[in-house]
Amino acid sequence: MKRRSALAVFGAGLALTLAACGGGGAGSDTGSGDSNESANASDITIGVAMPTQTSERWIADGNNVKAGLEAAGYKVDLQYANDDIPTQSQQIDQMITKGDKLLIVAAIDGTALSSQLSSAAAAGIKVISYDRLIRGSADVDFYVSFDNYNVGVQQGTSLLTGLGLLNADGSPGTATGPFNVELFAGSLDDNNAQFFWDGAMDTIQPFIDKGQIVVKSGQTKIDQAAILRWQQETAQKRMEDLLTSAYGDGSKVDGVLSPYDGISRGIITALQNAGYGAGQTMPVITGQDAEIASVKLINDGVQYSTIFKDTRNLADEAVKAASAMVEGEEPEANDTETYDNGVKVVPSFLLESQIVTKDNVTSALVDTEYYTQAEVDAGKAS
Ligand code: GAL
Repeated sequence: MKRRSALAVFGAGLALTLAACGGGGAGSDTGSGDSNESANASDITIGVAMPTQTSERWIADGNNVKAGLEAAGYKVDLQYANDDIPTQSQQIDQMITKGDKLLIVAAIDGTALSSQLSSAAAAGIKVISYDRLIRGSADVDFYVSFDNYNVGVQQGTSLLTGLGLLNADGSPGTATGPFNVELFAGSLDDNNAQFFWDGAMDTIQPFIDKGQIVVKSGQTKIDQAAILRWQQETAQKRMEDLLTSAYGDGSKVDGVLSPYDGISRGIITALQNAGYGAGQTMPVITGQDAEIASVKLINDGVQYSTIFKDTRNLADEAVKAASAMVEGEEPEANDTETYDNGVKVVPSFLLESQIVTKDNVTSALVDTEYYTQAEVDAGKAS
């Protein structure tokens, strides 16, 4: 995997920039009056709290953020919380107690960290919300993520193109349906889940209204479709239940809206156990994150699409924002309207994402060195 190369270049560039400023590194000459004012970058530890190592994307995110921060001269305290909320709260408490100067947090439950964040604020520690917005707190200083509503639009769009209801250029496709489609959503304690759902449902609702898409289970509400902690096993169980309750009459599932590759793999297992894929065509199944196992499933014609979010760029943005904030500067935002966390609108830097199907696996993922061809072929990152 060459995921780190872009960061190494960025990090080296940043380190040079800092050196060229004539100071001893980040925070050396801001005179901001805070505790960072005379610190060298190498005296500064940045806490990075990631949710889980069960998903490869968060491992890559953690590694990329760490590598970028280290290349800029900082020390890094990287922690994973096994998707356990008390563990993450405790890790953040410890980062504050140990004197970390800034926190980068990808929350498990976006509403569960208010007390940690107010301690951080009281200690003058800035907080960057990483990919998942922390809600209900005034003490979130910046947000780096993707355009999450558009991710949902892309999921809905790829479901429609996969079914043939839409052409890639947005014109009506040759198929008319009706198609049986089931809907899955992410974890409701993750702010992103609602954005993905809204984007996808705004895109496919007109086709439901026209009768071209039928949700045979009748489960069209996000709380019926949601999968706690985005877990593959929970998704598999729900798909099994849907097959039993709504498809026992011999009717077939034509499509499944899935918000994340791990959920898609659970759905695929349930479908394969029910005979899909062997003689019976697999439904059109969407996803997200371009996880390597799912990229192989896409190449093998088992999963239809994923949404590629280049997490190398996300890590770069987090590192840039962190460096700016440690130096007492405002990080560059490109959205100051969308992400209201219930207490404030958090200034954000949002990146773009891309639909990936079998047709563009190579150009999107291999040519960009996100994966090597060997990794794509094996369905495993080396
Ligand atoms: C979301 C994230 C997705 C996916 C999901 C499950 O917050 O935006 O890319 O990773 O969590 O981990």
